[in-house]
Amino acid sequence: MTLDSNKGPTEWFEARVGVGPWEGERPTDSKYDPELLENGDKRNVVDAYRYWTREAIVADIDQRRHPLHIAIENFEHDANIGTVVRTANAFAVDTVHIVGKKRWNRRGAMVTDRYQHLMHHETVADLLEWAVAQGLKIVAIDNTPGSVPLETADLPRECLLLFGQEGPGVTQAARDGALMTCSIAQFGSTRSINAGVAAGIAMHAWIRQHADLSHAW
Ligand SMILES: C[S@@+](CC[C@H](N)C(=O)[O-])C[C@H]1O[C@@H](n2cnc3c(N)ncnc32)[C@H](O)[C@@H]1O
Repeated sequence: MTLDSNKGPTEWFEARVGVGPWEGERPTDSKYDPELLENGDKRNVVDAYRYWTREAIVADIDQRRHPLHIAIENFEHDANIGTVVRTANAFAVDTVHIVGKKRWNRRGAMVTDRYQHLMHHETVADLLEWAVAQGLKIVAIDNTPGSVPLETADLPRECLLLFGQEGPGVTQAARDGALMTCSIAQFGSTRSINAGVAAGIAMHAWIRQHADLSHAW
């Protein structure tokens, strides 16, 4: 099996079943997983990473991760964290921070958490202290009074975007520690959108401002 550079990153048809065993002479580079070469690769990874070991994939992404961190409050077991992790992986986010309860429902992550750095913080204060020490600017994302429209806000390059959970939204402690709170403009009847969707929109706002698109797949 050789990789077809004309195909898109998600192989629309093969993605459901992945690729079969490597055909022809097997590569010997240590980035390749002998078991995947032998049995095929059914993982949800882009073509460029077919047959690579997990460690090799993480190391490759590590070379070009964005200085963007994502944090989500998880005091009541938020069901959206998996979605947030998957989107963070797609945008080569540095680290996803879970604040509050350590356990979260991994189903929505679709195994992308294996390639994404994750960090747990007991409290918002712990997260803020860590972020400040790293030189990150904290931006809370919520549609609370006094928030700045995300659509026109200048997001810092070294940035931590902090999201709240369904129900309570971003805690007061998080907003107090943030440089600003940004809201996503809405036009319908609902008070808010799903936190996972909001995270995707906000991450992409950062990507539009700071990412080098020539490095995208
Ligand atoms: C479902 S919202 C709940 C809180 C919301 N403030 C409310 O009054 O219903 C959960 C999280 O999603 C994000 N979110 C949802 N809608 C948003 C919007 N229009 N602008 C910014 N963030 C939003 C925020 O991070 C928020 O904390």
